[in-house]
Order: sequence, then structure tokens, then C-alpha cells
Amino acid sequence: MTTPISLPGDEDSIERCARAIADGSLVAFPTETVYGLGADATNDESVAAIYAAKDRPTFNPLIVHVANVQAARSLVYFCDQAESLAQAFWPGAISLVLPRRNDCGLSLLVSAGLETVAIRVPAHPLAHNLLVRAACPIAAPSANRSGEVSPTKADHVLQSFAGSDGAERLLIVDGGSCPVGLESTVIDLSGGDATLLRPGGITAEKIEAITGKLGLAGSNGNTPKSPGMLSRHYAPKTPLRLNVTQAVEGEVLLGFGPAPIGTVFNLSSTGNLSEAAANLFAMLHALDQEIYTGIAVMPIPEIGLGIAINDRLHRAATSAKKM
Ligand code: TXA
Ligand code: MG
Repeated sequence: MTTPISLPGDEDSIERCARAIADGSLVAFPTETVYGLGADATNDESVAAIYAAKDRPTFNPLIVHVANVQAARSLVYFCDQAESLAQAFWPGAISLVLPRRNDCGLSLLVSAGLETVAIRVPAHPLAHNLLVRAACPIAAPSANRSGEVSPTKADHVLQSFAGSDGAERLLIVDGGSCPVGLESTVIDLSGGDATLLRPGGITAEKIEAITGKLGLAGSNGNTPKSPGMLSRHYAPKTPLRLNVTQAVEGEVLLGFGPAPIGTVFNLSSTGNLSEAAANLFAMLHALDQEIYTGIAVMPIPEIGLGIAINDRLHRAATSAKKM
């Protein structure tokens, strides 16, 4: 079976990966949220290769990563709210959807036909280092095959792509576990009022302290503006049952807070939502096994990061199928 090339998270690896990006290849790298599958965002063929590797529908646009806010300003038009959010949260787990500049030089494919680009300055030192050395914007969706749970460890990326076409050329930088563990919050600023397209690593409360009340995608009767939020996403193969306090025969319990004696997997035994977010995808990966008929998940409060955690769990629960 063809296997990707795993590299340690050191300077030599980052230099090798920066060259690979410049040569048009794909590189999987850690960010503080999840691992990304990156390529030169100005190179059509490389961006097309991301869609092919992930088997991602080409109507689903990609997030473009840059090293700093100046680089972001050269690609998209910033409004005042964008400036304020960038100042407050970058580098960090928020992506801003803004109008593309005509002279941005980005592949049209990153926008998948939209006139906007989702842009983010990641905080992870390895991601930052890669962006500086590659000296180009890097388009990077989560580094999983389409429809799978996002990767928070290098090994998840390896498992997802092992055996797929071109896997033997894929470089993966191993930066350990992603500290946030949930994808970035996606905020659309292209239509005037700030709209929440995807809850994520930075809570809506923190963002609303700057923007005022966020609009919700689709609440004005339009179709969702973030095509990736179609519900078939974030799915383990094993069915999920949510808001339950006990597993039935054959199921495994995924705990939160005080759990029944013998519970092996607990998102956070102290009920800490940041800890639960960081553990979520790794535990779903670990529990997605043939031996279980289902994963029973204890209730997670719908506050703070719990909103993004429940969002991912609901998507996983509606689309998981044992096949
Ligand atoms: O934390 C993250 O955001 C990670 C890391 C690698 O940065 N990336 C990530 O990318 O989660 P992806 O492709 O799995 O999710 C991107 C989301 C999708 O829901 C996509 O539809 C939305 O952002 N998106 C991207 N560009 C957009 C645009 N121009 N307008 C609206 N939504 C957009
Ligand atoms: Mg994804």
C-alpha cells in the first residue's frame, strides 16, 4: 500500500515542505485547529490536486492561509470589522470571508466560483514557519478525505490518505496534537453584516464582543453560504447517539464530566470545554472501530466551545453509517 512520508516537525522538514509547495506539491501540516492539506494557492494545478486528493466537491471553496495581516490585505478587501477581528484574533482560529481583490493572483478554484475568499492567519509555529518560507499563500482544507472526521494528529492524516492515489508523494509534518482541536470559526463579512458560517475554535461570544450580534447563515432565507456546511461531513463510520448517559450493549460511551465507572474515553472528566474540543476528533477517530455498534455521547452543554462541539457531533450523528 502507498503511504505518505511522515517528517518530524523541525526546520529541515519545513524547508523541504516549503520547496515542495513551491514545486506545486501538496503538504500536510499542523495548525492550532486541525491539520491542513496545503498547496500554493496561486497555482491552479496544485489547488486542483487538493480537490482530487480529498475527493472534495469542487463547489466547496478552500481557506487560504497567510503569514500575517498585511499578506491578507493584498488578497482581499478589508472592511472595518475585518480589521478589528484580525487585530483581536489573528494569528488564530478564525477565518474571514471577504471579497477577492482583482489582482490577488489566487487560483479561481480556491473560491469555487464565489467572489470571496476565506482567509486565515494560523497561530501554530510550524504553520507560520511554513508560510514564511514558502512565501506564497497556502490553500488548505482539513487534511482528511472528504466526509471524514478532521485530523488532529499526523497519524490521522496518514491513515486517511494511505493507499490513495499519489499518497507516496504526500509529505506530512508531524507537529503532535493540535491544541484547539476544532476547525476555525468562519465569519462572512462580504455582505455587510457579520454572519457566522461555521462555529469553531473561537466562540461566537468572543466575536460578538467586537461585531455585535452575528447573523446566522441561511437565516435570511438564502441557501447556506458556506457550501462545506452541508450536513454530510465530520462523519465516523460508526453511528453516534447523542445526549445519552449510558451505552447500550455493543456501544461504547464517550464521556463528558462525571461519567459511569469504567468509562475509558472521556472528553473532559472535569467538564472543561477547551479540553473536550482538543480531544473530540482524536477520540472519534479512536472509537470508530468495527467492534462497536455505536458511539454513545454524553451531553455537552450548548455554551461557549460546546456550541462548535455539538455542531460537529450533530453532523457526525446525522451522516454516520456503518458500512
Ligand atoms: O481550521 C480550519 O479552518 C482548517 C485549517 C486547516 O485551517 N481548515 C478547514 O478547511 O477546516 P475546510 O476546507 O475543511 O473547511 C473550510 C470551510 C468550509 O465549510 C467551506 O465551505 C468554507 O470554509 N469556506 C471556504 N471558503 C469560503 C468562501 N469563500 N465563502 C464561504 N465559505 C467558505
Ligand atoms: Mg474539512
